[in-house]
Amino acid sequence: MEATTPSDSPTIKPINKGVVHRICAGQVILDLSAAVKELVENSLDAGATSIEIALKDYGKEWFQVIDNGCGISPNNFKVLALRHHTSKLVGFPDLQSLTTFGFRGEALSSLCALGNLTVETRTKNEPVATHLTFDHSGLLVAEKKTARQVGTTVTVKSLFSNLPVRCKEFGRNIRKEYGKLVSLLNAYALIAKGVRIVCTNATGKNAKSVVLKTQGSGSLKDNIVTLFGMSTFNCLEPVSISVSESCKVDGFLSKSGQGSGRNMGDRQFFFVNGRPVDMPKVTKLVNELYRGANSQQHPIAIMDFTVPTRACDVNVTPDKRKVFFSDESSILIALREGLQQIYSPNNARFSVNKVEEPAKEPGRSELCSPRQKSHKFLKTIVYG
Ligand SMILES: Nc1ncnc2c1ncn2[C@@H]1O[C@H](COP(=O)(O)OP(=O)(O)OP(=O)(O)O)[C@@H](O)[C@H]1O
Ligand SMILES: [Mg+2]
Repeated sequence: MEATTPSDSPTIKPINKGVVHRICAGQVILDLSAAVKELVENSLDAGATSIEIALKDYGKEWFQVIDNGCGISPNNFKVLALRHHTSKLVGFPDLQSLTTFGFRGEALSSLCALGNLTVETRTKNEPVATHLTFDHSGLLVAEKKTARQVGTTVTVKSLFSNLPVRCKEFGRNIRKEYGKLVSLLNAYALIAKGVRIVCTNATGKNAKSVVLKTQGSGSLKDNIVTLFGMSTFNCLEPVSISVSESCKVDGFLSKSGQGSGRNMGDRQFFFVNGRPVDMPKVTKLVNELYRGANSQQHPIAIMDFTVPTRACDVNVTPDKRKVFFSDESSILIALREGLQQIYSPNNARFSVNKVEEPAKEPGRSELCSPRQKSHKFLKTIVYG
């Protein structure tokens, strides 16, 4: 670097493309769970009904996501891992009607920058699969035919090997990273209906062991039972809260009363239109109100917010875990009202149902005023 004295104005120069790539990639792929999450989301976007996540040494050596989705057609091979190349978005307005998990075309490119990426893929139109090798800049450097069913396998070896500090941290915290990944996979396994999700891990010379497994059921209830067991499910009650005509929250929450919750808040999953996200304000609210019903424990919370795509923005952070809402306060107030009814000290158990409301007036805001809609909650006591 050139030496400067305080009186010198430093020269502004463009950063080398490869360096930019690595800097930005490190923001998209923060850790192991972010890396695997991107591959799982790609498989879901490809319409897979079966997704296997295979880890070697908790993901430190390599990880692989194997799906039976639509596959990648040969005319996309060269551009597959190039930065900002995507099949999911063309223009900026498309962001307002997104139904796919991915949209930026930077996940595979980032994984190339931070590890060694190979892909095996086959569409229904190809008689055989192709094995593709990419370099760190996302360029396709080798291609050979291989045997495979229709679908895609993406393998990443030696993640973070070229980011010295993160690589060291990664090795040191691998068990913690692995724990975070399994928790995140639980979120996808809960919400993905009709998709069989399996995660395996193999350490050293040992055979792989199954870490998590769902059956591909079409219901959230079945996924909860499969992942957490019937006794856990029996401690939950269904929740359905209407915020406005086009916005609602569905899911399951711990029942009130000692013993129904957990000693840790480790089973709290929030989704927006089926996308697992972080919702700190909602998390705080749910925990705060549950405390009134069970002061010793934390609730299990599995809540999916259905919000019109044009009323929320998922393009907030590189890892797409944060969401902005056009009217967040209406959602929070409706949620508070709904939860207060559920966890009111007078009621042992009940669910909240929506009462029919008049048709939406033209020009009204997407999420109506919480005060206007407090009448919409009907409390139904369930004895037993
Ligand atoms: N498992 C897969 N099956 C089929 N196509 C895939 C798969 N993984 C990736 N692709 C294709 O490769 C493209 C690039 O994937 P990548 O994850 O880099 O970007 P994206 O999903 O479009 O956006 P984002 O960066 O937001 O995830 C996708 O748009 C998709 O067309
Ligand atoms: Mg993607």
